[in-house]
Amino acid sequence: MVAQEIMDKAVDIEGLSFTYPDGHQGLKNIDLVVYRGEAVAVIGPNGAGKSTLLLHLNGILRGNSVVKVFGLPVEEKNLKEIRRKVGLIFQDPEDQLFSLTVFDDVAFGPINMGYSEPEVKQRVTQALEWVGMNGYEQRSPHHLSIGEKKRIAIATVLSLNPELLVLDEPTSNLDPRSKWSLFELLRQLPVTKIVAAHDLELVRALCQRTVVMDEGKIVAGGSTESILSDVPLLRAHGLAPCLD
Ligand SMILES: Nc1ncnc2c1ncn2[C@@H]1O[C@H](COP(=O)(O)OP(=O)(O)OP(=O)(O)O)[C@@H](O)[C@H]1O
Ligand SMILES: [Mg+2]
Repeated sequence: MVAQEIMDKAVDIEGLSFTYPDGHQGLKNIDLVVYRGEAVAVIGPNGAGKSTLLLHLNGILRGNSVVKVFGLPVEEKNLKEIRRKVGLIFQDPEDQLFSLTVFDDVAFGPINMGYSEPEVKQRVTQALEWVGMNGYEQRSPHHLSIGEKKRIAIATVLSLNPELLVLDEPTSNLDPRSKWSLFELLRQLPVTKIVAAHDLELVRALCQRTVVMDEGKIVAGGSTESILSDVPLLRAHGLAPCLD
């Protein structure tokens, strides 16, 4: 029973605080559990700590307490396995793209995981099709538009079929058609999702549960419907215009 409960938790965070090397405290005592199969949004104003929190999910940043992903503590000895399970799409696509061609960037993960050449090709084709970017294989990622870069960055993670998809502002810079096709794709992917977003349309369309962050803390959480209809809460945290 206990083992089952641990298995069902995709993410388990208790009392997590994190201070950047310059002394800025990015996270303050965060508690968060995300169950397998959930889609959870993290919303909050600029500088709230959303990206900082997400970067703890595959060990890029590490704070004072142990973050567990699918029951595995995020620490050195588990990082390889965790990074196989957790696909993190960075807020800035430039952080995700480093190869000379789009193909190489999207193939990087599958090659690293040891897939055969035909399997790698199939995964790249599938991932590029999901983001509507077939035909871009030989282009340089660095010479694409920002929205195109964003879509390729998403493909680099989808090509690994992660069990937990962590998306930091996935729809920023996407045109409406790309944005809605991404919604559809994400909705259909049967994996756990954690999405940091300013795009409340995305949050409403994709996530059943929402947590609100501000100044490094989680200040509210509940069903997306209840959070997004709480206008005073949204206003208090810079997420809705104050008209009065
Ligand atoms: N490398 C860093 N060194 C020092 N402080 C940092 C660093 N990265 C972020 N911060 C600070 O930590 C706080 C949280 O930043 P974070 O990027 O997590 O916010 P965010 O909620 O993702 O904001 P946004 O909505 O703008 O993406 C901010 O005050 C930011 O200035
Ligand atoms: Mg951010």
